[in-house]
Amino acid sequence: MDRVKVARLSAGRVDIVEPGLPELVSRGIAEGTLSFVVGAAGAAVEADAVFLCVPTPMGAGGAADLRAVEEVVAELADHLPSGCAVVTKSTVPVGTTQRISALLGRTDVPVVSNPEFLREGSAVRDFLRPDRIVVGSETAEAARMVVDLYSALGAPSVVTDAASAELVKYAANCFLAMKLSYVNSVAELCERFGADIDSVTEGMGYDRRIGRSFLEPGPGWGGSCLPKDTSALLRMSESVGFGFDLLGAAAAENLAQRERVIAKIAKAVGGDLSGARIGLLGLAFKAGTNDLRDSPALGVASVLCAHGAEVAAYDPAIAEEQPGMLVVDSPYRAAKDADAVVVLTEWPEFRKLDWHVMAEAMHGDTVLDTRNLLDPTTVLSTGLSWQGIGRPRIV
Ligand code: UGA
Repeated sequence: MDRVKVARLSAGRVDIVEPGLPELVSRGIAEGTLSFVVGAAGAAVEADAVFLCVPTPMGAGGAADLRAVEEVVAELADHLPSGCAVVTKSTVPVGTTQRISALLGRTDVPVVSNPEFLREGSAVRDFLRPDRIVVGSETAEAARMVVDLYSALGAPSVVTDAASAELVKYAANCFLAMKLSYVNSVAELCERFGADIDSVTEGMGYDRRIGRSFLEPGPGWGGSCLPKDTSALLRMSESVGFGFDLLGAAAAENLAQRERVIAKIAKAVGGDLSGARIGLLGLAFKAGTNDLRDSPALGVASVLCAHGAEVAAYDPAIAEEQPGMLVVDSPYRAAKDADAVVVLTEWPEFRKLDWHVMAEAMHGDTVLDTRNLLDPTTVLSTGLSWQGIGRPRIV
C-alpha cells in the first residue's frame, strides 16, 4: 500500500531494527529472488502460494481487528491463479481460514493456516530455525505443499485442521504470557519473603517440564503480540461461553506489575513523582527492536509524565520524540540530574555503562533495574544503590 516503503525496500533499505534482515533483503534483491510491488494483485501473479502477513491489531472490544485481512482478500480474489494456495501467516481468530475461503468464493483456491512463531529481535534466526511448523487446512494437498516449502529447515511439522492450527498460535502466545505473569508474581513474593528470583527460576528451570527460557521477570510483558493475543483469546473464549479466568488473571497481573514498578519509582524519589527527574534506560518493548507498540517501558514513562515527573529517556534504537518526555541520545544524558535511573529494556549495552560517570551525572542515588540486567556490584561500587525485581535490595 505504501509506495515510499516499497521504493525504499526495493532499494534494499530496511527501516525496522531486526538483526540480519537488511542482509537477507539485499541478498534476495541481488539474486533476483525477492522483489517488492505496490498492490496485492501484483504479488500474486503466477504464484503457487500467497502468504497473508498483514497486521491483526487489537480492535474494538479487545477482539482482533481483521480489516487488513479482509481488504487484502477482497483485493486478491479475482487475481489468484487457479490452484494457488492462500496461506495465512497473520494471527487470526479461530474460524478465519473458513471465512477467508468464503470471502474469496473460489473453489479452486485452497486456504491454509500457517501461524508464525518468530520473535522480534531474533526474527530471521527464529524463522530459519523454527521449533516447529504448524499447518492447518481442510485440503490435505495444499497443506502438504506448504509443509514442503519448509522442508529445508528440518523442523518437525504439525499438520492438522485449520481451527486447530489457528488455536495453536493463541494457545502458545497466551501460555507464554501466563508464564511471565507467573514469574513476575513469584518475583513479587521473593521481595516480600526476602528470597531471590534468580535462584528460584534457576531451580525451577532445570525441571525440563518447565524449561529455562521465558523466566525473566521484568516490568511486564508487552509488544505487538502477547497483549493483543491474550485479549483476542479472552474475547474468543467469551464468544463460545467459556470464561477463561486463568488468562484474564494473567492479563490483570501484567497491569499490576507495571503499577508495582511505578510505585517503586515513586518510593525511590521520596513518594512524590511530581517534579521528580527520572532517567529511563530503554523505551522499546524488549531489546533488539525499535518497536514501541504496547511497550511496558513506554507505558511506565507515560504514567511518570502524567504524574508530573520530568522524564529523560534513552534507547539505542529510538530517536523519535515521544509525547511528554525528553528522548536523549546518550544514557549519560538520561542520567543527568536524575533523582533515579530506571532500566526498562534489557539492551546488553547498558551492562557496559560507566557507572562512575552515571553516578556523577545523577542527582539522587537510586538505580532501579526492572530487568535484573546490571551487575549490582559495579553499580554499588560507585556509591549508588541498586534495586532489581524479585531480588534483595542492596543499598
Ligand atoms: C511473541 C512470541 O514469543 C513469538 O513466539 C510470537 O511469534 C510473537 O509474539 C508473535 O505472535 O508474533 P515477541 O512479541 O517478539 O514474540 O516478544 P517476546 O520475546 O515473546 O517478548 C514479549 C514480552 O515479554 C516482552 O515485553 C519481553 O520483554 C517480555 N519477556 C520475555 C520478559 O519479560 N521475560 C522473558 O523471560 C521473556
